[in-house]
Amino acid sequence: MSGRRACVTGGAGFIGSFLSRRLWEEGWYVTVLDCCGSEGLTLIADLVGRARFRFVRGDAASRKDVEEAAAGADVVFHLASVVGVGVTIADPVRTIRNNLDSILHVLEVARRQGSKVVFSSSADIYGTLNKVPLEEDDDNLYAPPHVRRWVYARVKSLEEQLCFEYHRRYGLPTVVVRYFNSYGYGMDDAFPRRVIPLFVHSLLEGRPLEVVGDGSQTRSFCYVDDMVRGTILAAQVPEAAGQAFNVGNDEEITIRDLAGKMLAIGEELGMVTNSPGWRFVTAGDVYGEEFEDIQRRVPSLSKSRRVLGYEPQVSLDEGLRRTLRAYRDQGLPRAMGVAR
Ligand SMILES: NC(=O)c1ccc[n+]([C@@H]2O[C@H](COP(=O)([O-])OP(=O)(O)OC[C@H]3O[C@@H](n4cnc5c(N)ncnc54)[C@H](O)[C@@H]3O)[C@@H](O)[C@H]2O)c1
Repeated sequence: MSGRRACVTGGAGFIGSFLSRRLWEEGWYVTVLDCCGSEGLTLIADLVGRARFRFVRGDAASRKDVEEAAAGADVVFHLASVVGVGVTIADPVRTIRNNLDSILHVLEVARRQGSKVVFSSSADIYGTLNKVPLEEDDDNLYAPPHVRRWVYARVKSLEEQLCFEYHRRYGLPTVVVRYFNSYGYGMDDAFPRRVIPLFVHSLLEGRPLEVVGDGSQTRSFCYVDDMVRGTILAAQVPEAAGQAFNVGNDEEITIRDLAGKMLAIGEELGMVTNSPGWRFVTAGDVYGEEFEDIQRRVPSLSKSRRVLGYEPQVSLDEGLRRTLRAYRDQGLPRAMGVAR
């Protein structure tokens, strides 16, 4: 697919920067649209100014900026979003407005010029559904709208619906990818308070890792390279249009075991000498009182394997080693607490 043109909204962010880099390395012409300040550009700084790479500082919630960045794109990868449950709880109005305005501009511009759209959704849309593994056609289970915890899931779900409607109504090739807990070097820990970046920071500072609850809750973490592989496959496989796909890794681990594994790898890599261990905290301590945790979240990858030919290739051990090695050698990629 080299020589093709991609627009990546949110392309200066964590997953977007890996995606933009991979596309660029594969020969695509890549335009990144991102509203980040200069500090937020760290992850793609070396690409800015190179041939076949264009950076547009702008707002996906502005029609004009989307038109400029997406002009001539074969595929628009739409990742720009207010991200993470913590941030969205703090400002639901901004979350809803930013995300809905952005997806509508992306879909309209794509429709006018015939681009494909790959939309990055989230495993959070399944809500509290107590089912393992989660399949694409499963129900979404949320508390009513006055409970702000689910605003992120709700808005992602609406964005998905708009993608499906544009496919049904206008035949626009839209594909939804639902990410399950990505990780890797450069993931922002400041507001979303995602567990792997939080643990990385504690390791770097020699503080005990804070395990929420009794640590028996599980997650399935996916190394960012695998997320990117799944996202590009979604753009490449014609039968994917009009459908949603789980993208992640189905290897499941408790948060307590994750803490143990990261401490062991940190020691092996010489990042910690006197192991700080871990301590238990309540969800309220870390995420605030409105947070509602989920006991297990594991993707079914059957459909992604069958239709996209997707297979995660990086084990949790290997991915954590790569991530921690990068933090050890390169330090923090950007200032903590940058509001984005
Ligand atoms: N990281 C994960 O595990 C995960 C899980 C589920 C879903 N997702 C989704 O994947 C996408 C990327 O997530 P990430 O972890 O890389 O997040 P991130 O916060 O690192 O990146 C998001 C980027 O979008 C940009 N952005 C936000 N609103 C914008 C706007 N209106 N105009 C232009 N740029 C804007 C931000 O500046 C940022 O660079 C998001 O849509 C997120 O909801 C991520």
